[in-house]
Amino acid sequence: MAQGSAAPPDDPVAASRGVSRRAQSEIYRAGISGTRPRVPVDADALEAAARKALSAEAYAYIAGGAGAERTVAANRAAFERWQVWPRPLRDVSSRDLSIDFLGVRRPTPLLLAPLGVMELAHPAADLAVARAAAALGVPCTLSNQASVPMEKVRDAAPTGSRLFQLYWSASDELNASLLRRAEASGCEAIVVTLDTHLLGWRSRDLDLAYLPFTRAMGIAQYTSDPVFQQLVRERSRSSAAAANGGTDAAAPPAPPVRLTPKAVAAGVRIARKGAVLTGSTSMRDNLRSPLPRAAVETFLDVFSTPALTWDDLAKARQWTSLPIILKGIVHPDDAIRALDAGMDGIWISNHGGRQIDQSVPTLEVLPTIVERVAGRVPIVFDSGVRQGSDVFIALALGATAVALGRPYAYGLGIAGEAGVREVVRNVLAELDITLGLSGNTSVTELDRHALREV
Ligand code: FNR
Repeated sequence: MAQGSAAPPDDPVAASRGVSRRAQSEIYRAGISGTRPRVPVDADALEAAARKALSAEAYAYIAGGAGAERTVAANRAAFERWQVWPRPLRDVSSRDLSIDFLGVRRPTPLLLAPLGVMELAHPAADLAVARAAAALGVPCTLSNQASVPMEKVRDAAPTGSRLFQLYWSASDELNASLLRRAEASGCEAIVVTLDTHLLGWRSRDLDLAYLPFTRAMGIAQYTSDPVFQQLVRERSRSSAAAANGGTDAAAPPAPPVRLTPKAVAAGVRIARKGAVLTGSTSMRDNLRSPLPRAAVETFLDVFSTPALTWDDLAKARQWTSLPIILKGIVHPDDAIRALDAGMDGIWISNHGGRQIDQSVPTLEVLPTIVERVAGRVPIVFDSGVRQGSDVFIALALGATAVALGRPYAYGLGIAGEAGVREVVRNVLAELDITLGLSGNTSVTELDRHALREV
């Protein structure tokens, strides 16, 4: 086991019992000596602490949304429409957070949503996230835009449960290769994200003129992939041929970047990341090699394809034998279409409001989708989940599992692996307490009767 990797609980389902009592006791005991949690429990305070800990660019990338960020706000506001009924005088001394998901009993109904470029929050990035998730028995979804190749994440937390999220690229060979690697490295399912076939119009990033991928951040799944490496070499060769007057020109060269200290720093970073392509540890070699820059350009070329349609999904079945979940479903008709296409699960998400401004908030459509899917496949829910009572509401409205996004990135930014662990633990603790105070003993028994619509 890699150094520092978290040992899983012997019986994760049992370990998830009593999570709230342990969390409260730990926090209040530390308080006796005057120690307050480094990672705030309150969701707004958590975000504010992350803002202090992160660079302006990193915070903007993580917290920001599309346009005027009305979807980000609406995702949160949608939870205000539901209230939890307190129901005392039922024996809730033993409570069970476990669910069945993809044929396996999971200790909790929580997943970690795929978040790309976590090196923005902490150098240990996906390694820290995977270790924290494994320690709590929570599956994590490895992003296609991760900062660490999926095989290294597996090595860091080999006992953790992992799903792999694919952005369907313009190269089918690359898609197939990524899915082969996901299967070989022990991922349990493929999550195909459908809502990012164009990059959202993200005001904060645009105003800072900052996109991490252009600095070779968040492209580790690509640069570690043999098919992608081949694409980079081909691109680099044809660019060289074009420069020498040859005829097989690749895409027209990008306009030159103005040479400033920031541009030099970005160049050094790209060169450092490009070592995986050049095979050299010498910074001099990597700065001279065209491959690191070609990797960024190749990524920008292949990253997504707006031409993708429902018919293409059949190809994914040939590329993998793993269950396939479609992420980014919001319209109930698309949920049914996913069933017709033989998909194994639906992930309701509007990407946390990062794609369309004034999009439909996900919680608003959850009940309709649940009704129409009628239990035929599992439904994962995300966008706007900030605390345990949110998870409770989504489960009561029929979600099978609930995915946590930005809050764990904030925990990572504040305190690395321990920060992620604390954030996830706090969400689970509040869920457990809400379950008991609402007179319930199992998350699988929750339904609309647990809620009052405002
Ligand atoms: C994301 N999300 C995302 N989704 C995905 O399928 N692949 C990815 O690589 C990313 N990357 C990513 C980075 C960052 C910084 C954020 C905030 C989000 C979307 C993510 O999986 C999830 O749908 C949202 O985070 C849910 O919204 P909230 O609850 O975080 O607001």
